[in-house]
Amino acid sequence: MASSSSSGAAPWKSTFDSHLKKLGSSPEFYLATVSHEGSPRVRACIHRGFWTALPENSHNKLPKNPPVFDSDCPTFTTDARMSKVYDIFASGKGKGTLEQSRAGTGGGGPVEAVYWVKDISMQWRIKGQCWIIAADDVEHEGDGDMQNSGTVTVKAVLQRYMRKTGEDGDWSWKREVENHFGNLSPMMKGTFKNPPPGQPLKDGAGPGEALGQKAGELQEEDLARKNFRVAVLTPQEVEQVDLSDPAHNQRWRWTLTGDGKDEGIAEWEMVETWP
Ligand SMILES: Cc1cc2nc3c(=O)[nH]c(=O)nc-3n(C[C@H](O)[C@H](O)[C@H](O)COP(=O)(O)O)c2cc1C
Repeated sequence: MASSSSSGAAPWKSTFDSHLKKLGSSPEFYLATVSHEGSPRVRACIHRGFWTALPENSHNKLPKNPPVFDSDCPTFTTDARMSKVYDIFASGKGKGTLEQSRAGTGGGGPVEAVYWVKDISMQWRIKGQCWIIAADDVEHEGDGDMQNSGTVTVKAVLQRYMRKTGEDGDWSWKREVENHFGNLSPMMKGTFKNPPPGQPLKDGAGPGEALGQKAGELQEEDLARKNFRVAVLTPQEVEQVDLSDPAHNQRWRWTLTGDGKDEGIAEWEMVETWP
């Protein structure tokens, strides 16, 4: 059976979102990337909501973006010094270097994310590309001349996935990234001032770097701001597997068929497959 949808949220989004809510306030998933050597890498991450639609967090007192946009793009936060960020840059079309991956916004490498919702025996897999955003790069809202090429590319790609909700307001990329940081606990914020992840202990730590630190807001934390990134997945294929009834397992696959162009991303084709 095949069916397609051509407007509004992706047809799988509301079910996926309702299943994520069953995973509590910090839903875990596993993210696979391709390293610069072409080998697979996978690790646990935490889903931080959908791009442009951050969840409410009572500890976050920052001014919020108005709900001008919605999207089907899962996000997580990460540290520019981690291998996954280099993987995402190196395996993207632009074949980013290690230095570029540490410096700021870009990426676009292929990724797959898997979410296991044990209580209802449901697995979701999302295949697509991953984009990395640094707060300092997106400061110049809409001003092409002031932006590096990675930032121009990432904004152009993500804009196609950002659906207008019909609400008015002044929406800011930088405010969105700062609110991702604002939604983290003080201890988690402090991890962006850790010594370089994955480097040997014997190489020591840089100035201001130590384990177990807390941090305040991104604006006032230079070191954390240098390392903090928001990662956004742009889905191309989504698969839901329902294993709740062993005698009647079910599996559905949605594929993005239109690339949206000016109208945004909208066309999904669904096929129900044998599980
Ligand atoms: C439950 C759990 C959640 C995690 N969440 C994240 C996350 O959201 N972002 C992240 O970069 N790393 C997260 N990590 C750490 C990664 O799994 C990994 O150890 C680290 O990021 C280094 O990975 P890399 O060298 O492949 O980049 C999490 C680990 C665990 C166990």
